[in-house]
Amino acid sequence: MLGWSRLTFILLSGIVTCLVAQQVPPWTEDCRKSTYPPSGPTYRGPVPWYTINLDLPPYKRWHELMVVKAPALKVIVNSMKNIVNAFVPSGKIIHLVDQKLPGLLGNFPGPFEEEMKGIAAVTEIPLGVMEWILGKKDAQWVGFIIRSVLENSTSYEETKNILTKTKILAPAYFILGGNQSGEGCVITRDRKQSLDIYELDPKHGRWYVVQTNYDRWKNPFFLDDRRTPAKMCLNQTTQENISFATIYDVLSTKPILNKLTVYTVLIDVTKGQFETYLRDCPDPCIGW
Ligand SMILES: *[C@@H]1O[C@H](CO)[C@@H](O)[C@H](O)[C@H]1NC(C)=O
Ligand SMILES: *[C@@H]1O[C@H](CO)[C@@H](O)[C@H](O)[C@H]1NC(C)=O
Ligand SMILES: *[C@@H]1O[C@H](CO)[C@@H](O)[C@H](O)[C@H]1NC(C)=O
Ligand SMILES: *[C@@H]1O[C@H](CO)[C@@H](O)[C@H](O)[C@H]1NC(C)=O
Repeated sequence: MLGWSRLTFILLSGIVTCLVAQQVPPWTEDCRKSTYPPSGPTYRGPVPWYTINLDLPPYKRWHELMVVKAPALKVIVNSMKNIVNAFVPSGKIIHLVDQKLPGLLGNFPGPFEEEMKGIAAVTEIPLGVMEWILGKKDAQWVGFIIRSVLENSTSYEETKNILTKTKILAPAYFILGGNQSGEGCVITRDRKQSLDIYELDPKHGRWYVVQTNYDRWKNPFFLDDRRTPAKMCLNQTTQENISFATIYDVLSTKPILNKLTVYTVLIDVTKGQFETYLRDCPDPCIGW
């Protein structure tokens, strides 16, 4: 989901992909059919499932998960420390981050302060380092907003309104789906405001929206056009026939599927279904 122009966030229902195109086999292929349920060389297995119990006090919510993830998290923290120390060898920056940052950053809103403290305690990674690492603080705040709407928003319109208007620290695409006909949109955000809201309009034949990692009004980099192939494949199916199977087919077609594709998520808001699959794109497959 991470790209270079904006962070992409998909809420409730949508499509996840990552990189590269051209009308040249073997980098491209005809729209795939019958790839679902996932199997074969483009499927690397299920994404592990963890349950976070929000009925627990914030400090305790992440304990169980963090006991599992602490070792991996420490590896990431250490390699980031190494990178920083390679540039500024004195270790002063790390010390600063460890000791001073928690104070400088101020309080996180709502339950997040307590949750972060709980995570820091279990992982034994100082709060300052966590805020700095996970932090990339930018994305963090967008994460908070998403958490808030997922936890507390009660309608499509309310969610859309919050995602359109709340100030964020990093540009982002919000892909939002509801459970009524016509409820689906892509919100293109910069830090202050929404630049564009692109909505479904099934009455006039727009029964899907596609978002890759480019603003809608801009052309993708020519080697990275996944928008056209995705639309081509979607145009070969119909609104009536759309399903996890037909969406997975689209997301399994090169170059919509590519070397940078990490996982595919399928969400059905009305049925309450959510499926995530780790992906691979064996050679020949494009993606820098
Ligand atoms: C959601 O609302 C509840 C009740 O007001 C509040 O305690 C909680 O912190 C909110 N959650 C988030 C993520 O803001
Ligand atoms: C659609 O979502 C609303 C909340 O936004 C909920 O009240 C309603 O029951 C849902 N309807 C269906 C058919 O899932
Ligand atoms: C897909 O269909 C729409 C609606 O008919 C059309 O406007 C669009 O050009 C088509 N796109 C591609 C890539 O085939
Ligand atoms: C849509 O699905 C129906 C059966 O559910 C099938 O007969 C039809 O061929 C499908 N159409 C397309 C365009 O895939």
